[in-house]
Amino acid sequence: LKVLFLASEADPFYKVGGLGDYAGSLPAALAAAANKSGQSLDIRVGLPFHQAINVDQSKFIKVTDLKVPKKKGSAKGSVFMHTHNGLPYYFIRRAGRAGGFSSVYSASPLQDARKYIFFSLASLELTRLLDWQPDIIHANDWHTAVSVYYLQHTLCQQPFFSRTRSLLVIHNLPFMGAGTGEVLDEFGIPPLPPTDSLPSWSLHFPLILGLQSADHITAVSPTYAEELKEEEFGNGLKDFFRQNEYRTSGILNGIDTHLWNPLQDTSLTRNFSAEDLESRKANKSALLELAGFDPQDKRPLLVAVTRLDIQKGTDLLIAAIPQLTDLDWNMIVLGTGDPNYEKTLLGLQTRYPDRLRAFLEFNAALSHQLYAGGDIFLMPSRYEPCGLSQMIAMRYGCIPVARSVGGLRDTIDDVSDETRTGYLFEEASPEAFGAALRKALQAYNDQGQWRRFQLRAMAQDFSWENSAERYLQLYQELLT
Ligand code: GLC
Repeated sequence: LKVLFLASEADPFYKVGGLGDYAGSLPAALAAAANKSGQSLDIRVGLPFHQAINVDQSKFIKVTDLKVPKKKGSAKGSVFMHTHNGLPYYFIRRAGRAGGFSSVYSASPLQDARKYIFFSLASLELTRLLDWQPDIIHANDWHTAVSVYYLQHTLCQQPFFSRTRSLLVIHNLPFMGAGTGEVLDEFGIPPLPPTDSLPSWSLHFPLILGLQSADHITAVSPTYAEELKEEEFGNGLKDFFRQNEYRTSGILNGIDTHLWNPLQDTSLTRNFSAEDLESRKANKSALLELAGFDPQDKRPLLVAVTRLDIQKGTDLLIAAIPQLTDLDWNMIVLGTGDPNYEKTLLGLQTRYPDRLRAFLEFNAALSHQLYAGGDIFLMPSRYEPCGLSQMIAMRYGCIPVARSVGGLRDTIDDVSDETRTGYLFEEASPEAFGAALRKALQAYNDQGQWRRFQLRAMAQDFSWENSAERYLQLYQELLT
């Protein structure tokens, strides 16, 4: 089975968000799952060659030059190969100014389009040049969605691609590739013909072209797959997802459980495990000290590791803080994002200097320490296709308080104290969030019970194993 896996980012080469974790860990997990069940899987990863690359390029091997036809002339590029986790990774660079800017995502849709639409088409061309006939194109989000469209509308007529099937994974629906029509047009890709199920404004968006053409669509959690059919989460596409239910499903993301292991994590003040929860406390003391609080403070420590933006419910967090000052807690927030939220958080820190500390920065080591030393993890997301932080938090014994949406609902158990791994709330309001947090803070007073919640959360299996098997199964279904 030959699978071409395409993404805009992948850890450790480039990571901006959760997609980078996904694309960094799933291919190897698929290879391991195939190996375990005795299937032969040849999975290769395609990535754009961003200048922001984070590894030593001296081991990259030039594979080929290539051309992608445009309406007028063609766009040129080069491909480099590097073996990572035992798998071939292809880095595709567009020649000239259109391919040459440093960040993974830019503020200009046209600039991004010149890179990603070229990349989507060039990856398919690469398979032809390698004479490597893919069975499955596994594309992710709008950046690679045009490959799925092109396969379905142009290439499938060629014998080389006649057996190739496609899967498009939705990580974040609101990002559809708006404003890229001009570049699609340069590559000779017209808008979709009008249909009842798609709003007219969406017909020339890369993600929509891909969704309309993919043999199968998956969302990154079963609940998100359901939510796509609702007004609140469907971003104008609920009718499309209702009509295309038969080819849409949800597969929950896993996390890299070797990377995220409190017993071996080198960023922690002290390593610990479920057998040795006592050692966890040293991490909390170190955090309190770093934040300028009393290291022996017994109050529950609330932590958030987040992008500061509307998706992540930063406004709910900010509004809840003053409403909860009658209770005992400290809070540390780590993240960057919307400058208005940054300013407000600094204002709150000045107002509550003995309770709140905001680190407005990107700091991977501190994030690990927060999972390991925090008591309660705050994640009031407005929507959350899957979410990784809550899984990491639970694995590190930090109990999440989160909104009951998407992957948060699929990974956190708030059914009863007998099964509890966290707390969920329904309505996207500071009051509903505050009420769930109050329940958690109340429960924290009973340390024996809290310990049981922690041990249960730490015992959850968030590895890729089950989900990798589901992807393999899906590939097989698509081919029969
Ligand atoms: C996006 C989503 C997040 C998900 C990640 C990986 O970043 O917002 O919920 O976990 O993609 O699929």
